[in-house]
Amino acid sequence: MKRLAVFLSGGGSNFRKIHEAVLAGDIPGEVPLVVTTNTDCPGAKYARSHWIEVVRFPVPERSPEDLLVLLKSRNIDFVILAGYLKMVPSEVVAAYHRAILNIHPALLPKFGGQGYYGRKVHAAVIEAGETQSGPTVHFVDEQYDHGPTVAQVSVPVLPDDTPETLADRVLEQEHRLYPQVVAALCHGHIHWTNDGRPAIDPPLDVENLL
Ligand code: GRF
Repeated sequence: MKRLAVFLSGGGSNFRKIHEAVLAGDIPGEVPLVVTTNTDCPGAKYARSHWIEVVRFPVPERSPEDLLVLLKSRNIDFVILAGYLKMVPSEVVAAYHRAILNIHPALLPKFGGQGYYGRKVHAAVIEAGETQSGPTVHFVDEQYDHGPTVAQVSVPVLPDDTPETLADRVLEQEHRLYPQVVAALCHGHIHWTNDGRPAIDPPLDVENLL
């Protein structure tokens, strides 16, 4: 059983889907810890209602080293970012090499980086006249939305889309994709090529996710 820390800042719908997959036995792991920028957000409330420890970070009284000590003291194997709006401290990124995942609501490397979050991502996709968008799951490095991509799912951008309608269509796919990638990670099904790229083996059938 792998031990997951989920980092979040808002609604926590991806966290819920991952937690449901844990409870259903589809992810061979458990979630003993949620780290959040906002302990009143719905994701943090959901965690508390399931007796999951919730810790706020960043806060002035906790250093990046304190966060790393916390993760280690809870025997965390993997960090799962699910709408966490702050940069993960470099100390944690270094200590959790190839062990931190993020989900981004656009087809990286387009429409990623600092400032591309929430509605802004989808507004930019529409503004650019893209015909496809969709979630990207990637490993985390020391830059926003930058580490190597593990999996993507495409959805159409429709002519009358608003950022909200596009966000809904992408989020639906996030909920299908992210639990499966986390499951692959926990099963040890993510391998690294010699040139430093992750590959899921056996591969996910992204067109026919559960
Ligand atoms: C998702 O769109 C995700 O791609 C992005 O933040 C959002 C989080 O949504 N990183 P939720 O809190 O999981 O509902």
